[in-house]
Amino acid sequence: MNFPSVRPRRTRQSHPWRRMVRETRLSPDQLIYPLFVVPGADVRHPVTSMPGISQLSVDEAVKESRMAEQAGLPAVLLFAAPAHKDERARAALDPHGLAAEAIRAIKETCPRLLVWADVCLCGATDHGHCGHVLPGGVIDNDSSVQTLAQVALNYARAGADAVAPSDMMDGRVAAIRRLLDRDGFAMTPIVSYAAKYASAFYGPFREAAESAPAFGDRRSYQMDPANGREALREVLLDVEEGADLVMVKPAGPYLDIIRQVRDAVRVPVVAYQVSGEFSLIKAAAERGWIDERAAVMETLTGIHRAGADLIITYYAPQVARWLGA
Ligand code: PBG
Repeated sequence: MNFPSVRPRRTRQSHPWRRMVRETRLSPDQLIYPLFVVPGADVRHPVTSMPGISQLSVDEAVKESRMAEQAGLPAVLLFAAPAHKDERARAALDPHGLAAEAIRAIKETCPRLLVWADVCLCGATDHGHCGHVLPGGVIDNDSSVQTLAQVALNYARAGADAVAPSDMMDGRVAAIRRLLDRDGFAMTPIVSYAAKYASAFYGPFREAAESAPAFGDRRSYQMDPANGREALREVLLDVEEGADLVMVKPAGPYLDIIRQVRDAVRVPVVAYQVSGEFSLIKAAAERGWIDERAAVMETLTGIHRAGADLIITYYAPQVARWLGA
């Protein structure tokens, strides 16, 4: 059979038809909302390059978490920008450091909201790199992995429901798993930023997280945007090391990677719609060049259709409300 008897438009001709045959559905259950925590109290400092997003003191992060929970979201992803930065990332290792205090405060107020803690050194180091730096500017993988595991343990002790290493050092998932298991946190999942690309789309985030590298760039540890097979290698290694969920980041420019990863592993796949992806839509919408709501729903639908089970997005509360309306 062929045209004129075959007509794909038949099931597209009205809203009820389109509703019934829709293949991809977004739900607030799939969305995770990132938060940026800074020192102080009563602080809501707007991030210029991310309209609607602010750096929040712990008390305000608690309020924002309550809002996220009320919007129907299951989880937030926490980033901290502590005041004190040094070459050892001591603020991230401190049981009373900014991130640990924020985790504790949010869990106290919103016990049913999952708190995923981003585990990295870049927000707490004076040089802004994701690992320790040797003289000459080389990133020391193996000592970084030891520190990252200690940071993860610190956040697990503070009550984090998951730890999410975003540093891209080799072997960190296994090291984190080993330390968590040894210290009584066998049930704390690891969300691994497994395929994280050296992307131009992190620009606005680095303002929000105050984590831009003081010298050089991140290309010796984050992936080359040109590489797809290497992403699968990274993901499979992390699963072998014990990752409970794996992430592809950024999301929009890497839909092919998301699909390949979804087909290659059995753990949940997370995609991160990063700051630059958010800011592009915002900027165009502010100029009236694009329909913000339609554009956001289309990007998230595309990311989900490509194979992402879960999506981290700065639009999460807004989308949850749109879906509920
Ligand atoms: C740092 C980190 C980055 C993001 C999450 N964790 C930026 C970077 O690698 O420089 C980016 C998130 C975003 O752009 O929204 N470990």
